[in-house]
Amino acid sequence: MSYTKRPDGRKFDETREIEAKVGIIKRADGSAMFRIGKTIALAAVYGPKELYPAFMQKSTTGILRCYYDMMSFSVTERKRPGPTRRSNEISMVTRDALLPVLDLSKFQNTVVDIFINVIQADAGTRCAGICAAAMALADAGIPMKDLVSSVSVGKVGDKIVVDLDKTEEDYEEGATDLPLAFMPGTGKVTLLQLDGNMSKDEIKKALEMGKKACEGIYKVQKEALKARYKK
Ligand code: CDP
Repeated sequence: MSYTKRPDGRKFDETREIEAKVGIIKRADGSAMFRIGKTIALAAVYGPKELYPAFMQKSTTGILRCYYDMMSFSVTERKRPGPTRRSNEISMVTRDALLPVLDLSKFQNTVVDIFINVIQADAGTRCAGICAAAMALADAGIPMKDLVSSVSVGKVGDKIVVDLDKTEEDYEEGATDLPLAFMPGTGKVTLLQLDGNMSKDEIKKALEMGKKACEGIYKVQKEALKARYKK
């Protein structure tokens, strides 16, 4: 059966409502909130600061550490506090999605820590976390070649769609999730994962739709950064 209507009435290429705010955690060196629909991610950046134990230091560059987690109350079934295989994997791919835009070469022997916490989850949390983290890094004044904008695309039933919510991810006739991240300036991809099955042509179409959605997300991120430094 054809998938003709999204549960919340969105067009197939439409994201949920997006909101972004920079500078939300005053004690952090940089911070941001990114909301897409009911998914909300907060990010806080600390650093660059000297890295201990010293044997972990790199004499040629600073390093980036990333910690992704979901609050216990972020989902309807209480999530046990603490890291899981899933959160470790998301921390790793988030770091890899952000590293290409960072220039830490002037910060030898230091570390930049970035903490991402999801306070409300309705699918697409890794992408929301990446969007928040990119803004928090910019807020911290870390030299960056570009920003990173991220969204999940995928296939629900027989349709390629942008920004699946949890209801769509759980579609009983099958759903595929393809989280993406782009550097908006160059259009380079910094994250591409696939959970499910899609043909080569479907992936191409999904990438195009994701890139377009990320252009919209980039505008919101940019506005939030501008608003922080307006006065
Ligand atoms: O969140 P994201 O789509 O990046 O990653 P996922 O592992 O595909 O998780 C999809 C969704 O499942 C999350 O956004 C949550 O809404 C939900 N989830 C949950 O309810 N309980 C968990 N322990 C993990 C995820």
